[in-house]
Amino acid sequence: MSAVKGTGLEKMTTAKEIRSAFLNYFGKHDHEIVDSSPLVPRNDPTLLFTNAGMVQFKNVFTGQEKRDYKRAVTTQKCVRAGGKHNDLENVGYTARHHTFFEMLGNFSFGDYFKEHAIELAWNLLTKEFGLPQEKLLVTVYHNDEEAVGHWKKIAGLGDDRIIRIATSDNFWSMGDTGPCGPCSEIFFDHGEGIPGGPPGSPDEDGDRFIEIWNLVFMQFEQMANGDRLDLPRPSIDTGMGLERVAAVLQGKHDNYDIDLMQKIIQASADVSNVAADGEFKVSHRVIADHLRSSSFLIADGVLPSNEGRGYVLRRIMRRAMRHAHILGAKDPMVWKLVPALVEEMGSAFPELERAQPLITETLKLEETRFKETLGRGLRLLEDATDKLGDQEALSGEVAFKLYDTFGFPVDLTKDILRGQGRDLDEAGFESAMQKQKEAARAAWSGSGEAATDQVWFDIHERAGASEFLGYQTETAEGQVQALVAGGNETDAVSEGADVMVVLNQTSFYGESGGQEGDTGSLKSEDGKTVIEITDTLKKEGLHIHVGKVTQGAVKVGDVLETHVNHERRARLRAHHSATHLLHEALRQRLGDHVTQKGSLVAEDRLRFDIAHPKAISEEELRQVEKDVNDRIRLNADVAVHLTTPEEAIKAGAMALFGEKYGDEVRVVSMGGEDAGKGAGRTYSTELCGGTHVARTGDIGFLKIVSEGGLAAGVRRIEAVAGAAALEYVNERERLLSEAAGTLKVAPGELVSRVNGLLEDRKKLERELKETRKKLATGGGATEQAAEKVGDLNFASRLLEDVPPKDLKPMADELKKSIGSGVIVLIAANDGKASIVVCVTDDLTDRFSAVDLVRIGSEALGGKGGGGRPDMAQAGGPDASKGEAAIAAIRSALA
Ligand code: ALA
Repeated sequence: MSAVKGTGLEKMTTAKEIRSAFLNYFGKHDHEIVDSSPLVPRNDPTLLFTNAGMVQFKNVFTGQEKRDYKRAVTTQKCVRAGGKHNDLENVGYTARHHTFFEMLGNFSFGDYFKEHAIELAWNLLTKEFGLPQEKLLVTVYHNDEEAVGHWKKIAGLGDDRIIRIATSDNFWSMGDTGPCGPCSEIFFDHGEGIPGGPPGSPDEDGDRFIEIWNLVFMQFEQMANGDRLDLPRPSIDTGMGLERVAAVLQGKHDNYDIDLMQKIIQASADVSNVAADGEFKVSHRVIADHLRSSSFLIADGVLPSNEGRGYVLRRIMRRAMRHAHILGAKDPMVWKLVPALVEEMGSAFPELERAQPLITETLKLEETRFKETLGRGLRLLEDATDKLGDQEALSGEVAFKLYDTFGFPVDLTKDILRGQGRDLDEAGFESAMQKQKEAARAAWSGSGEAATDQVWFDIHERAGASEFLGYQTETAEGQVQALVAGGNETDAVSEGADVMVVLNQTSFYGESGGQEGDTGSLKSEDGKTVIEITDTLKKEGLHIHVGKVTQGAVKVGDVLETHVNHERRARLRAHHSATHLLHEALRQRLGDHVTQKGSLVAEDRLRFDIAHPKAISEEELRQVEKDVNDRIRLNADVAVHLTTPEEAIKAGAMALFGEKYGDEVRVVSMGGEDAGKGAGRTYSTELCGGTHVARTGDIGFLKIVSEGGLAAGVRRIEAVAGAAALEYVNERERLLSEAAGTLKVAPGELVSRVNGLLEDRKKLERELKETRKKLATGGGATEQAAEKVGDLNFASRLLEDVPPKDLKPMADELKKSIGSGVIVLIAANDGKASIVVCVTDDLTDRFSAVDLVRIGSEALGGKGGGGRPDMAQAGGPDASKGEAAIAAIRSALA
């Protein structure tokens, strides 16, 4: 750090240097330097965005979660826009409001407490940062004598500079329940030249005394019943705004004058060609602040949408874009400032660098689209306000039209009106909104199972869409918005109940786009309630967790942890990404006519149906399989970005014909560069909402298992990837060794061995047939082959297990050996009889084989038979009557 030490304020210290000085100082004092947690809190569903450093440690304070350190230090990304802490409206107009800021904080989890916290803070400010002691004063909670004592002893502050505050300003709590305690705030005095009084005084809201650091002494746990219990292990949570302390250290009064903000403001001035400090100062500040919050939100997985967090992002972005419009920017410009931001903050927050292409494209797209309606909307607003008297409020209908037709978030309209000293008829806006909702409701007709779908429509209307966090995390917390049992909504369910659960946010993927829904469990924080989830559906924008309460009970409003079955999700990811690579490989090998006709992404396999007129040859399949595996081994990043359907398709993304896409689509690209497609073009690019691997190498390996016809012109391919591919190969291997083991050969000799066995078998069959014939003909001589019935030779045989089809050739053989006579052969197979009767040609005028076989067949319990006078065949159900049948024919001949 370029020293401010001792001299205080006159030397420049950059925000970057202050940030690392803070982290290193606490690092030296045995604090673990922990990364900022994401802006979308995973462990607190009631919080829209992370707004303090302690959010990621919430459960560590309460003792529910253990970490292997007792002291930590962070610089936490915070967003205050939307929800309870909303600074959006003030940004640009004041010296210290931001939608995005960094909170520097040190934490003790039952380790040091008040005294050491005060000592660490005081030494950092006065010794390391070199702030003059006489410029600092502190507040304490009115009855916290212990803190007063420490401040006197450690800092040598007199009573005049330790201000006792009795209000909640100096009692900090996380929420209605949970860890809380008195706090002590450190203030910096900007000097007599600035109006304002010390904290607690009537004009404390002035700008002279600025709070820079809040030390919270986490001492109690607030219970729901109003009790406040002592924490077994008192803890420390502190928060210091980086922008504020940088302003103090850089001798500035305004956070927007610090180096970090000025770099971005200057970039905005350069790009727009409008001076940073003149008439348009506010616009540059708004743009700089909103660029920071938008970029960090996008880097943490929030994308613009019309609901939830995505809508807060959209509002921030559009507010910045309107200020770009004020600056006279003809083309989208906010995206052009991303490099300046990354330059300033990318080394501290690598996620910003990683997401830079996504941030750039998302900003550019949003501004391009908003520009189309912004000008027209502004003209409509101007026409409306021209007709109004001085300071007369704008009607809610106009604001609603701006919202509905021109994409003006209501706070954007209010921001414009604020510049004119005008209000908005907000009640009118709300009622216009309500009217539209009712119209939508009346026009709504369910999609198929209307009766059940109505439930989801109602829930969506009331609670909004489920926020899906599952691209970033498999574990999160969500608040129960609705419970559905037996097709109807209910307030609570208990153990044993089958239930469908809707949460405000979830890490569970709802079945869509061919990818099966996630399974796993929902659990209460205390572990007493468990719902096993067997499937997740997606309807009306809701992720519907389908499961059974296996333990405890759950009611609407409860908070549940969402635990996706990780192993299964990993398999789904591998199969989904493999499907994209397979699709591209098939197109490249078979032709562009190959289009997707259906797709299933399951845990154990993938199934992909394509339009293709004929069977895919073995060679083609192997080539496709090789292409996919080559791309897997390239192990390039899988990239995701957002765009319009038209842009995506222009850029070569594969979309499903006839599929309806929204205004914005998610584009997934993978497989590395494809020289054949041109520089910078990726092998596979598809519109897709599914979950994917991070790099193709994570797929592991793809094996095509089968190919076949599904319908005319449609082929179905089944394949396995990742863990499922290993299982498949192992199973094949096992079958191979089992077969080889049975035949007592090495697997490599299996084929020649099997061929040899088949040869042997054919030979044996031939020999067997010969032997049977010989057996039937009794060795050759007529005397042995036949008996005499009158003057006739009569040859009869009862045979076991001779196939019926062999009887006629045997009879022919016998005919040759007896020369003239009648032959009867009966074969028993599984208790049933087949009978053949043969009459030599010289006797056919005396006897008919057909008549004789009927006699035999009747004796065998059958009927009739058929054939010619010299040879006839029949059957009968009862082979035990063979002797009787022969006797019957013998007497017919006699
Ligand atoms: N959690 C404390 C705050 O946000 C430090 O002020």
